[in-house]
Amino acid sequence: SGGAVVAAAATSGAVVARAGADDTRTADSTAGPDANSPRATAVEPFYGAHQAGVATTPQAHAAFVAFDLRAGSDRESVARLMRVLTDDARRLTQGQPALADTEPHLAVLPARLTVTFGFGPGLFAATRTSDRRPESVAPLPAFGIDRLKERWTGGDLLVQICADDPLTVTHAVRVIVKDARSFAKVRWTQRGFRRAAHSQQPHTTQRNVMGQLDGTVNPVAGTPDFDRAVWFAGEQEWLRGGTTLVLRRIRAEMETWDAADTVAKEFTIGRRLTDGAPLTGTREHDEPDLARLTPAGLPVISEYAHIRRAHVADPGARILRRVYNYDEGVSSDGTADTGLLFASYQADIARQFIPIQQRLAEADLLNEWTTPIGSAVFAVPPGCDPKGWIGETLLS
Ligand code: HEM
Repeated sequence: SGGAVVAAAATSGAVVARAGADDTRTADSTAGPDANSPRATAVEPFYGAHQAGVATTPQAHAAFVAFDLRAGSDRESVARLMRVLTDDARRLTQGQPALADTEPHLAVLPARLTVTFGFGPGLFAATRTSDRRPESVAPLPAFGIDRLKERWTGGDLLVQICADDPLTVTHAVRVIVKDARSFAKVRWTQRGFRRAAHSQQPHTTQRNVMGQLDGTVNPVAGTPDFDRAVWFAGEQEWLRGGTTLVLRRIRAEMETWDAADTVAKEFTIGRRLTDGAPLTGTREHDEPDLARLTPAGLPVISEYAHIRRAHVADPGARILRRVYNYDEGVSSDGTADTGLLFASYQADIARQFIPIQQRLAEADLLNEWTTPIGSAVFAVPPGCDPKGWIGETLLS
């Protein structure tokens, strides 16, 4: 089974580490595999120019936890908090228990765990650093389609926790929440999921809860277009190498969506349900032909189709969609409480995210079946090296 883990990790681009290799209790290398203490598991690097969890191939499970800083927080206390949480993240992501971890055995299976931090507008205010907050790291303008609920909106500090194993996510959330407790209280938690790890070929586009292939047109990590689209390069020096995150909770109206037929569903997006090909093409990654007309003279891909309204021609100016599904079960009458945790990363919210969201809010056929019910915006600081901590470029 060790070989399978190694092979799986290699295909996902993660490095493989021996969890607990410095633990004398597991020093006998001739011992057979022990299901309760895995010897090797996929590990994502923690240190680097960028925080992990953005360019990282999306893991199967995610928790987004937003905190409100306690009254009286200042630059010094938030710096202390970030030192503690950075230490937790660096240990847990490498398969080691956090300091004073009350469930240390849950830490040995990192399953590509990443812990990514984001700073909301309130953190800048509390630490008196608002002059260094990019202007668009602020609540989004109100859109006509919004039905935002306070309980899914805003937040001073975001911790995004992703892993291929849901118990690993649960443990990391628990550690982070406990260690943050004296500095901040939880404002909301949102859990999401994608297809289970290794259930599909690598680089297969996932389907979302509405059944669509979701993620076809997206910046590709490791390309210059990705770097230009995602990493902050604006005037605030402390954020260079970081990015920004817009998290929208978007309810999917499954009762009425289920009632729509395939033609209507495909017309709404501008792509086919079977393979995600544009209505003007035959394969998923064919370039949509937005100019093509039907014999009756109407655009094949409607003026109001989601992919036309959302399209951005310059690949270096696109948003990075790292989307998760949510599913909070069904009400007693059978109505599904489900939708997307729409996580969008971009170098610049004002230039990249907002114009797209505006075009969608004005006239996107998909609005009939989707409702934004939460919205939060964060600056995601750059990564750090082994002597540093996340947020040091702003707070030290
Ligand atoms: C493309 C679904 C919300 C931006 C797509 C595609 C689907 C989809 C199926 C086509 C395949 C692909 O390229 O991934 C959804 C659903 C949403 C949603 C179900 C809500 C529940 C949003 C929002 C934004 C957005 C809020 C941005 C504000 C985009 C972009 C593309 C896209 C930029 C690529 C367009 C292109 O072809 O250039 N979406 N989407 N979507 N969506 Fe969405």
